[in-house]
Amino acid sequence: MVDDKHEPMTLLRLEQETDQAASHAVHASAFPTAVEARLVDALRAAGRLTVSLVAVDVGQVVGHVALSPVTVAGAADGLGLAPVAVLPAHQRHGIGGRLVTKDLGQRRASAPGLSSCWARRIIMADSDSSRQPIGG
Ligand SMILES: CC(C)(COP(=O)(O)OP(=O)(O)OC[C@H]1O[C@@H](n2cnc3c(N)ncnc32)[C@H](O)[C@@H]1OP(=O)(O)O)[C@@H](O)C(=O)NCCC(=O)NCCS
Repeated sequence: MVDDKHEPMTLLRLEQETDQAASHAVHASAFPTAVEARLVDALRAAGRLTVSLVAVDVGQVVGHVALSPVTVAGAADGLGLAPVAVLPAHQRHGIGGRLVTKDLGQRRASAPGLSSCWARRIIMADSDSSRQPIGG
């Protein structure tokens, strides 16, 4: 159900086994290639999908975010928040922001090395951007 800028009817919950194909489809649809979808599958298969959240709208998985262990040179180990994706037809309605902030807010205190793909993109690829990372 797409109603206004924010989709309050969209439920966020932990991914269940029956959501896995739909989570894959979300990434495959949102990104230009299936690389991210396969990355999520590989993380899950390797037991390194520490957190896997889905956004469900009227029974359909429309968004997914993955958190997995990362080690950054010179920094403490932590959790990397990536990839995150929302089906194109459901983007710009606040779902991506909710997916990121829901878990980020809960985990920031206990995960000092937490990073996000949004933050990394802004630092590395878009030095002129005035955008702020979601949940940053
Ligand atoms: C990025 C993505 C998940 C955002 O989902 P969404 O549901 O459209 O996001 P929201 O509607 O919650 O937007 C929240 C805010 O984040 C901003 N935002 C959206 N995409 C962004 C991006 N790639 N970088 C920085 N900011 C972004 C929006 O401008 C919005 O800010 P506003 O409210 O001030 O306008 C979605 O566009 C997507 O699936 N993109 C393809 C996959 C991708 O690039 N994932 C991110 C890298 S892992």
